[in-house]
Amino acid sequence: MDKLKIAGGYPLKGTIRVSGAKNSAVALIPATILADSPVTIEGLPDISDVEILKGLLEEIGGTVQFQDDEMTVDPSSMIPMPLPNGKVKKLRASYYLMGAMLGRFKKAVIGLPGGCYLGPRPIDQHIKGFEALGAQVTNEQGAIYLRADELRGARIYLDVVSVGATINIMLAAVLAKGRTVIENAAKEPEIIDVATLLTNMGAKIKGAGTDIIRIDGVEKLSGCRHTIIPDRIEAGTFMILAAAVGEGVLVDNVIPQHLESLIAKLREMGVSIETRDDQVFVSPGSKLKAVDIKTLVYPGFATDLQQPITAFLTRAEGSSVVTDTIYGARFKHIDELRRMNANIKVEGRSAIINGPVQLQGAKVKASDLRAGAALVVAGLMAEGITEITGVDHIDRGYSQLVDKLSGLGATIWREKLSSEEIEQLKSL
Ligand code: EPU
Repeated sequence: MDKLKIAGGYPLKGTIRVSGAKNSAVALIPATILADSPVTIEGLPDISDVEILKGLLEEIGGTVQFQDDEMTVDPSSMIPMPLPNGKVKKLRASYYLMGAMLGRFKKAVIGLPGGCYLGPRPIDQHIKGFEALGAQVTNEQGAIYLRADELRGARIYLDVVSVGATINIMLAAVLAKGRTVIENAAKEPEIIDVATLLTNMGAKIKGAGTDIIRIDGVEKLSGCRHTIIPDRIEAGTFMILAAAVGEGVLVDNVIPQHLESLIAKLREMGVSIETRDDQVFVSPGSKLKAVDIKTLVYPGFATDLQQPITAFLTRAEGSSVVTDTIYGARFKHIDELRRMNANIKVEGRSAIINGPVQLQGAKVKASDLRAGAALVVAGLMAEGITEITGVDHIDRGYSQLVDKLSGLGATIWREKLSSEEIEQLKSL
């Protein structure tokens, strides 16, 4: 177990490259289960969620080769092995194994997913979709059992706009008989990416990226090669830290259209942003203004960037209100930012940030992935040394973060936790 140390207060300069999208990767990898021959995915991020999914595909009999950023999965000898425990509990996205295994084998047993705690995260809309397609779904001792004699296309209206449910229903429906229509579907770019892979495998999907997706079931899906989209949340995190401590930072391998809501807010704060085809150049503003932010489904402001931008807003002049409409409890980073001298209070679903303050280095703990990103931004802004534990959360979603930030001139390094520190963390 490691901790992350940052000597803050130094300006960053240069180019930083964004990796492939975590939230696409964790759906694309399970989607390979649906093919009858090898599928290659290029540009995968070097994160622990990808490693865990690779292990899960191997557990069910897949042959997986993963070198550099390219993974080839041969799904031909996979079997519907029950996965009630173990690795599935380590990440949220293991729920995509439900849709993919149900689609291919008409049965699956998957333990209820783990991942970041951000308040209650039900999967009722996924289950509603599977049932509409003809599956029987039961929850037995913490695992979801799915069985169907056959899957038949259906019209499914999502009561909540959900990325996970939209993708999971697509995975289950591509091999079903007849037409499936998902209404009130989520529109995130990761959904388009998964639909593109499935289409290249032979699926018939129309409307991904809009709120109505139509899927005409096909008999079989075959192998193909697919390049993943860049990670808009990693890119957004880099843009925020470039705005906070940069002296001119080029964020490379970005689709700027995926980040319009962040770009608008940073500009409103006084940050100068220049967008190019697949790059964004960020220069710091001279006087930063407070802004109000409300997280919304795409293309609104991403909840995954709420935590990192909260850290940056401590630098802005005035009072900013950040409201998370997606998750009710995504504010665990606030106590840690307070330890670093931030003036923030939480009222219901909103954080009220009063600035500007100079953050001070402190010992803090990442409670979840994006809380970790917020603490890295704060550590880079702070005077003195910041020590972050809970680094395993950060490793789930940020590829080679220390190397990438060091490349911009940041003083950031990993150290092993002492046995006393490990004991202390366990007792918290
Ligand atoms: N919801 C329900 N019922 C459901 C599904 C969702 O009530 O059946 C609610 C959730 O509780 C939440 C809202 O709907 O309040 C949105 O949840 P969604 O299903 O869209 O989230 P998700 O698919 O579980 C993905 C990302 C999250 C990201 C959200 C929102 C993955 C693996 N995770 O989660 O990413 O915050 O969409 O954009 O794609 C992260 O990367 O740090 C992260 C948490």
